[in-house]
Amino acid sequence: LNYRVPRTRRDIFQTLIKGLQRLEYRGYDSAGVAVDGSGKDHAASISLYKKTGKVKALDEEIYKNNAIDFEAELDTHFGIAHTRWATHGEPSPVNSHPHRSDKNNEFVVIHNGIITNYKELRKYLVSKGYEFESETDTEVIPKLIKYLYDNRENEYVSFSTLVERVIKQLEGAFALVFKSIHFPGEAVATRSVRAMVSLKLTNEQEKNLLNRRGSTNALHSVHDRLAVEFYLASDASAIIEHTNKVIYLEDDDVAVVMEGKLYVHRIKRKAGEDPVRVIQTLQMELQQIMKGNFKAFMQKEIFEQPESVVNTMRGRICFDSNTVILGGLSDHLKEIKRCRRLILIGCGTSYHAGVATRQILEELTELPVMVELASDFLDRITPVFRDDVCFFISQSGETADTLMALRYCKQRGALTVGVTNTVGSSICRETDCGVHINAGPEVGVASTKAYTSQFVSLIMFALMMSEDRLSMQQRRLEIINGLKKLPELIKEVLALDDQIKSIADELYHQRSLLVMGRGYNYATCLEGALKIKEITYMHSEGIMAGELKHGPLALIDKHMPVIMIIMRDACYKKCHNALQQITARQGRPIILCCQDDPEISKMAYKTIELPQTVDCLQGILSVIPLQLISFHLAVLRGYDVDYPRNLAKSVTVE
Ligand code: G6P
Repeated sequence: LNYRVPRTRRDIFQTLIKGLQRLEYRGYDSAGVAVDGSGKDHAASISLYKKTGKVKALDEEIYKNNAIDFEAELDTHFGIAHTRWATHGEPSPVNSHPHRSDKNNEFVVIHNGIITNYKELRKYLVSKGYEFESETDTEVIPKLIKYLYDNRENEYVSFSTLVERVIKQLEGAFALVFKSIHFPGEAVATRSVRAMVSLKLTNEQEKNLLNRRGSTNALHSVHDRLAVEFYLASDASAIIEHTNKVIYLEDDDVAVVMEGKLYVHRIKRKAGEDPVRVIQTLQMELQQIMKGNFKAFMQKEIFEQPESVVNTMRGRICFDSNTVILGGLSDHLKEIKRCRRLILIGCGTSYHAGVATRQILEELTELPVMVELASDFLDRITPVFRDDVCFFISQSGETADTLMALRYCKQRGALTVGVTNTVGSSICRETDCGVHINAGPEVGVASTKAYTSQFVSLIMFALMMSEDRLSMQQRRLEIINGLKKLPELIKEVLALDDQIKSIADELYHQRSLLVMGRGYNYATCLEGALKIKEITYMHSEGIMAGELKHGPLALIDKHMPVIMIIMRDACYKKCHNALQQITARQGRPIILCCQDDPEISKMAYKTIELPQTVDCLQGILSVIPLQLISFHLAVLRGYDVDYPRNLAKSVTVE
């Protein structure tokens, strides 16, 4: 929303579209914008533009539209935009956001999340004569607000009061932004999942603000004289080029921007409660979310790993004294050490980070460690106790399944620990303590650098837990030295890219690809197979080599492509046996092995030789060739690496 900051309509569209493009990884099957209409009294009408497909398609559609006066200058203007990942209703213009109250677009709304009681609300509104045009859950929201507006009788009702009344009727998880012709130049936003409000101020203005208790409550008094722009977004990447000053909304906050002033208040306000929302400074740099010279974000993020793992360790490991301090856990360390069990919970790649580190956690903490998929953990109504410590691993910190599991464990009195890459995310805020993995923004839907940083974070936790265990010092030292050398070894693996690409050249027309291994490298098989599925749409399975003879062996013949991981560790011999079983059935395995292993090389169809590190860190190196192979396969198969069909980066629905 620009207030007394003249902007051309072109500027406004560009700002919205660019912001959407930065958020596109969260959903990209259709997109839409709503802006003030044309004409002198531009705020008296709202124009909607929607399009199926990626944001680019919407952008082209808008610029083809001769009816839009792009050069018109608007002193105050509020536009909203949304990119969708379909949950209810197929991708189509009518199902995409913003959704509207009626043909005159009196109220328009954008929504992230899910409304679980929409069927009841829809039925009610239909009985009141409202006609629905989409199949979405969202559409009940603009219809409901119009219904409340039309039935306000003689009472004056403010925009935010109307929104509050709407929210009281909604069940589910939502972040919403409302715009209306009845309240021109006014924006109302609220959340029960996550949203972000951002301010663009000069240093002087900001100083003024922060002098007044650093809270948003003081905003209106200084804003009287200000020309300001406000940005509301569900993710920092959409606004980082405009400002790095943000306010995170809490659940049940309602943020209102009018006449250049921002007000935040709570729906369920307790007497005397006055929400203080501190303005925070984002550390993110614009360049971090740009592709640079890479073909895709995923490729860029794979190649960032030598630096991202350093950022995860920075300031936390003292290589002189062999100590590890995770500041976010220090206050709770005593309690964690007293626990009876560790439970690691996540989805997708984040779950695999738990699988990858379970063994070393068991070894160094001597505690039972469970690794759980959040959805299954909830389905089973898993028993959780007060002396359990539950870890919630999530790149985004917003995954609905993981968040629900967190709330479940909290209710049962367990200590909750977040392991996330997103400062200020729901999981960060709702856990008792946590570790930021500091991998930097990850844009590619297929997670890569977040995985290796989650891996390193959990290893650091194991090291911190075992600091005072005399019998473990030798092992700890070995791991800490391994971590120190890790960035260089990652670079060595990345240098194999051309060789890996040539393997992809041979494989890309295949329908299926098995990835097999065991022990410390089993997680790499699961994660590698997930990467392949996600972006190449090939069938792929991560197979525990110990299970080979119990079923998967039936798949093996000379045509079935198999990748095997055979590193020099405690499972080497057993993996060798599996290899023999494969070659005896004319399988032609591509083997990821350690450098200089002639015995393996002679049985392999092809090898990818990796530098050797400590057994429990080897998975960090062995996953990288699989990340690269899936990337090359997807490119060769002609798919859009960063936007795989049917998937989204952060899944905020259960
Ligand atoms: C989605 C993504 C996956 C990701 C999973 C967990 O399904 O497509 O790539 O691993 O969510 O996400 P989180 O943000 O919780 O790590």
